[in-house]
Amino acid sequence: MKKTACAIIVNGGAGGLNFPERRRNGLVKAASIGYSILKQGGSSLDAVERTSMLLEDTTVFNAGTGSYLNLVGEVEMDASIMTDKMEFGAVAAMKNVRYPISVARLVMEKTDHLLLCGQGATKFARIMGIKPYNPETKEKRRLWQRKKSNIKHSYFPKLKEIADSYGTIGVVAIDQNGLISVANSTGGISLNMPGRVGDTPVIGGGVYADKHGGVTATGHGEEIMRHLLSFRAVCFMSSYRARIAGKMAIDYATKYGCRCGLVGLDKKGGILCANNTRAMSWCYIKNGRMRVFK
Ligand code: GLY
Repeated sequence: MKKTACAIIVNGGAGGLNFPERRRNGLVKAASIGYSILKQGGSSLDAVERTSMLLEDTTVFNAGTGSYLNLVGEVEMDASIMTDKMEFGAVAAMKNVRYPISVARLVMEKTDHLLLCGQGATKFARIMGIKPYNPETKEKRRLWQRKKSNIKHSYFPKLKEIADSYGTIGVVAIDQNGLISVANSTGGISLNMPGRVGDTPVIGGGVYADKHGGVTATGHGEEIMRHLLSFRAVCFMSSYRARIAGKMAIDYATKYGCRCGLVGLDKKGGILCANNTRAMSWCYIKNGRMRVFK
């Protein structure tokens, strides 16, 4: 059987580009590891999980270690993973694990459920042998202290007061057998209410994949979820090339005031990389050639 040309695309969030060098280094390293798995004949599922784990360990991003803290100063994380065979698993508002993406994969592979949240998700992780881990960093604690002293409301902060920085990570890959997998992981929005869940673990919101392609979103989770933006972008891929589909999805998002970024791949390995925010950090590798945001 003819092999598909493999490709991988990653994003590190669609907020401002603070620490561009750290972001670039993190994305390049993670995409390179993912691509080497694909080149060696590995599955896109393994590639997106491994790549996400590296990004979850890279503290400049808002996922895993280095996640933002919520209103009460705790880290609650969301993650999901999906293949174009409609396999899906997710976790939401989960505490005290190092790699939320791996727990999402375990939900997909070891349970009949699609989404576990809160204490149930953490308990499931422990049953699966995943050790307790504190993902908080001093850098994000300092950011929390600075922002907290600026917000006016005690328990219901307005999104416009808190939603100034997005750093959700996302990965899409296509392997030599043509399988597309998508993953994403986040600590939510800095100072969001405890228990708040964004688009990241919502099928069709933060991720989607089907026979036409795969997409993951980053940005303002409430609006991404409301408009099922990843699903919408993949639907556009059924009729248009990835680049055009991305433009159509972002035009749609802009019309409804949804600030976001999207990355994805279509079945031919066509690249989707689009945003309507000030910036988005991204990197992709296709046919052995890497491109990275400037
Ligand atoms: N896009 C990530 C979030 O809003 O939680």
